[in-house]
Amino acid sequence: MKALILSGGKGTRLRPITHTSAKQLVPVANKPILFYAIEAIRDAGISDIGIIVGDTHEEIRAAVGDGYQFGVSVTYIQQDAPLGLAHAVKIAEEFMAGDSFVMFLGDNLIKDGIKPFVAEYEQTDANSQILLAHVPNAREFGVAEIEGGRVVRLVEKPQNPPSDLALVGVYMFDHNVFEAVNSIAPSARGELEITDAIQYLIDKGFRVESHIVTGWWKDTGKLDDMLEANRMILDGLQTDIGGQVDEQSTIEGRVVTAKGSQIINSCVRGPAIIGEDCVIENSFIGPYTAVNDRSIVRGSEIEHSIILEDSRVLDIGSRLADSLIGKNANISRNHKTPRAYRMMLGDNSEVSVL
Ligand code: DAU
Repeated sequence: MKALILSGGKGTRLRPITHTSAKQLVPVANKPILFYAIEAIRDAGISDIGIIVGDTHEEIRAAVGDGYQFGVSVTYIQQDAPLGLAHAVKIAEEFMAGDSFVMFLGDNLIKDGIKPFVAEYEQTDANSQILLAHVPNAREFGVAEIEGGRVVRLVEKPQNPPSDLALVGVYMFDHNVFEAVNSIAPSARGELEITDAIQYLIDKGFRVESHIVTGWWKDTGKLDDMLEANRMILDGLQTDIGGQVDEQSTIEGRVVTAKGSQIINSCVRGPAIIGEDCVIENSFIGPYTAVNDRSIVRGSEIEHSIILEDSRVLDIGSRLADSLIGKNANISRNHKTPRAYRMMLGDNSEVSVL
């Protein structure tokens, strides 16, 4: 079996964080979401991975390379425009060369990986296997209608969902999916929908099995989902202090600090992760916080937040919580008069002040 990861598209929903960069590279517990997908595929015993890339291909190629660091082989497949998930499958036909494959949406995170699902699919002679999960907000997903234990209909982001069973972004297909993606027409939003391709398989009598996922799964398109994913991964953290911690500092609970980082006169209360070459000084880093490489936190308190690389949080006076701070951002207190908030915020930013 091979694998196809979809890492094209536009990250509009997480703007401005992913205005210019790939949403699949936003880190959860200091590791890009995309890396979890690659590792889940590798751990399921698959080493030949095609990655669909779009506008952000350079960044993705730079981060993933040829896959050697993960123990897999990666082939990039360029998609000229985000024309839909089924379009991504269509352009991967040559790479698949008749093999069955697992398709993984590069912004999806499945806590326990996909090993059992891949094993189950390999043992059946189903043409496709889809994963479903009960969700409270079915309108935001592809939704399955089940009759007598079988999927009879799939609808993409319906106004009136026929069930609360959302399509999880992991699908298994054999070569018959290419007949489907080459037969369907674009939807009202102009995309070739994977739901329509699977519906085609069902209607033509191909065997489509479904499996309900009970473990933790997240489509990380929005801020709250990112924070939840960050919480979930940090919950599984094992303490590993790779950097320096001075005598005035305390480390409580499960905390990871990477090499070159310095904790000075501060308290870090896990689960929390501090990246390489960070400085945490006179500060409190609270539970469910991930501070990425080379960031500096001085005289500040942060909890339940994700801070990307090369950022600085300096003497802010009150606690920063439930936040996602982009790369190379500066948050600081100043004592200039007139007393005022002074900001330079990108388009679609969100700030809530005390
Ligand atoms: O997360 C599960 C949901 O994913 C399913 O329930 C839906 O049925 C499915 O359509 C999909 O919905 P999204 O709206 O979340 O898809 P999104 O546009 O975010 O794209 C998912 C991933 O695929 C993302 O990493 C970007 C990539 N992509 C997307 C498109 C449209 C591509 O690589 N090429 C594309 O043309």
